[in-house]
Amino acid sequence: MQYIGIDLGTSAVKLLLTDETGAILASAQADYPLHFPGPGWSEQDPADWWDQTAACLKKLIQQTDPKQIAGISVGGQMHGLVILDRNDRVIRPAILWNDNRTAVQTDWLNREIGKENLLKYTANIAFAGFTAPKLLWLRAEEPENFSAIEKIMLPKDYLTFRLTGVHCTDYSDASGTLLLDVKRRRWSQEMLGICGIEERQMPALFESYEPVGTLRAEIAEAFGLPAHVKVAAGAGDNAAAAIGTGTVGEMQCNISVGTSGTVFLTAKNCMVDPNGALHSFAHADGNFHLMGCMLSAAACNRWWMENILGTSDYDKAQKRISTERLGTNPVIFLPYLMGERSPHNDPYARGCFVGMSMDTTREDMMLAVLEGVAFGLRDNVEAAKALGVTPLSSRVCGGGAKSELWRKILANVLAMPLERVETEEGPAYGASILAATACGAFPNVKTAADRLVKVRDVIEPDAILMEKYEKKYQLFRSVYPKLKSLYRDMS
Ligand code: XUL
Repeated sequence: MQYIGIDLGTSAVKLLLTDETGAILASAQADYPLHFPGPGWSEQDPADWWDQTAACLKKLIQQTDPKQIAGISVGGQMHGLVILDRNDRVIRPAILWNDNRTAVQTDWLNREIGKENLLKYTANIAFAGFTAPKLLWLRAEEPENFSAIEKIMLPKDYLTFRLTGVHCTDYSDASGTLLLDVKRRRWSQEMLGICGIEERQMPALFESYEPVGTLRAEIAEAFGLPAHVKVAAGAGDNAAAAIGTGTVGEMQCNISVGTSGTVFLTAKNCMVDPNGALHSFAHADGNFHLMGCMLSAAACNRWWMENILGTSDYDKAQKRISTERLGTNPVIFLPYLMGERSPHNDPYARGCFVGMSMDTTREDMMLAVLEGVAFGLRDNVEAAKALGVTPLSSRVCGGGAKSELWRKILANVLAMPLERVETEEGPAYGASILAATACGAFPNVKTAADRLVKVRDVIEPDAILMEKYEKKYQLFRSVYPKLKSLYRDMS
């Protein structure tokens, strides 16, 4: 049988058609706009998500015998607030994971409700991108929209809703709302009360690999698919990417260098970070994970290359950086172009170059951007180490991981071997594994990932380079504390 995995990203939706052997039979991708209607705001129109997904679905189905398709599942950008009225109409554009408008509400949650209580209710503290502060913002700033809410959902759940008519989510994505009691896998009554929400407005909760239903009759007919196609609950994109890179079982690590950058560490039990730097979320295999998320990773490089240098020929530009240059760059870049989530939790932080002189070149600055992102990821690995979790190696995925230069920098800054897997389409591939598991092709997610995911190559760190980068990392981590209060003054 065949399965469709969908990755609802921030800039594009990607669809894969796979079979039980894990082979990719076809793929399709379409972009949609991202809107910044206010300072630090970030929104998208759910109608764009659906239109582009539907167009890609059509393309994919044309390339196969539709009767072979047994299951579909969606992985997607986390934390976004999608709200529907009583006629199932979207009330306002979705407020996304990298939106920073909720600084006041986030502060209020962490100070007035208190981090200790938040950790008790949800296993997490409040971050500006999480869903609960968005609901508080909406209640204060758009009371009419707030009172029209019939259904709350996360971005990928909107696609599942359009496909099945079922109002549902999965535990991994629900973890990022700050409304889920992650440890007990149920909505937190305390948090619902704080946000003025009733449980009937929240989606039904499923494990990522559970089927939530089958296609709505109109959808099956419109796409020429069998009506019995199962739709699995799916997962937040990081959990889906972890499944797609085989990061399942205990003490495994996956690093994603996408628009955002994440360090994802699997755990059998729900671990809570008392410092609140790392998120404590459910994993899509039925277990848990710790995660640090930096808001701008490959996004920093895209900004530098396309907005500042005015080129999209990344390969050509990176070829001008010789290996001897690594570890000797005097320039430091702070990658906080959208504020920062983990570990600083600072919506006011901003990007910054430090250490330029008259002989600084364009290549020094380009390299500083790649290194700054690697150092930001290292901050998250350090936060994990502080909890006694020390990854010895990691899988690596995402657009940024395609660059050999960047992988080399990452392996040496993080001081660990980095493995790439054969299928690069992390979240979409993970979603197709969840669909196959929901259809019974595998007894569980771990068996599926163990059978299907294969390592393609490993990049080992080099002793001399690691030492150079260790020194530079210590300099990097001393810069932000010196600028922290300036960022607030400038906001
Ligand atoms: C994770 C997060 C981002 C988005 C990006 O907490 O906010 O990785 O999921 O798609």
